[in-house]
Amino acid sequence: MSEYVIRQARPEDLDSIIKVNRENLPENYPPFFFKMHMEYYPKAFYVAEASGKIVGYVMCRVERGSLYTRFKPWGRQGHIISIAVYPEMRRKGIGTALMKAAIKSLREEYNVDEIYLEVRVSNNPAISLYKKLGFKVVRTIRGYYRDGEDAYVMARPAEIQQ
Ligand code: ACO
Repeated sequence: MSEYVIRQARPEDLDSIIKVNRENLPENYPPFFFKMHMEYYPKAFYVAEASGKIVGYVMCRVERGSLYTRFKPWGRQGHIISIAVYPEMRRKGIGTALMKAAIKSLREEYNVDEIYLEVRVSNNPAISLYKKLGFKVVRTIRGYYRDGEDAYVMARPAEIQQ
């Protein structure tokens, strides 16, 4: 039996989600930013819960723009804004499960054409996770992060055979 569940985030999870974000990523956001995404895109905001504790989350939004994967030039993009899992819960498949749940909702509930995200060029664990899910590096943004590090933009069509 799995030791965690993946479920849609609820307003009462917000404080725990913000805590996971602050303790696991240098990219932090004010509480309203999390609240706004939960209100606008609730079906693509997931948490992982283990023994009653929030141990990970993924937060997304939907945008319209010029597609990276270009099976048509313009369309709906699902943007994975932020994902994190507590260190003691990593390498158990939670990151993959959160990503798969978000991708499915972005595709089936929000009808996106492709999914994209930004990631630090040094973040090998995350890059490896995204590659396993079919994402490819489509662009590098110089100095994207506050400390000057570059970002890879990684994208994949919403629908791919895996
Ligand atoms: N080293 C190498 N590969 C790794 C590592 C690692 N430390 N961690 C994960 N991977 C790769 C592996 O291929 C792994 O498969 P395997 O375990 O079968 O070898 C695959 O990713 C899937 O791993 P999961 O167990 O599903 O992922 P996990 O629950 O560990 O979460 C995550 C991955 C979310 C990236 C986690 O490491 C984390 O929270 N890191 C800190 C926060 C972070 O960097 N978030 C992403 C920022 S970019 C963004 O938010 C869009």
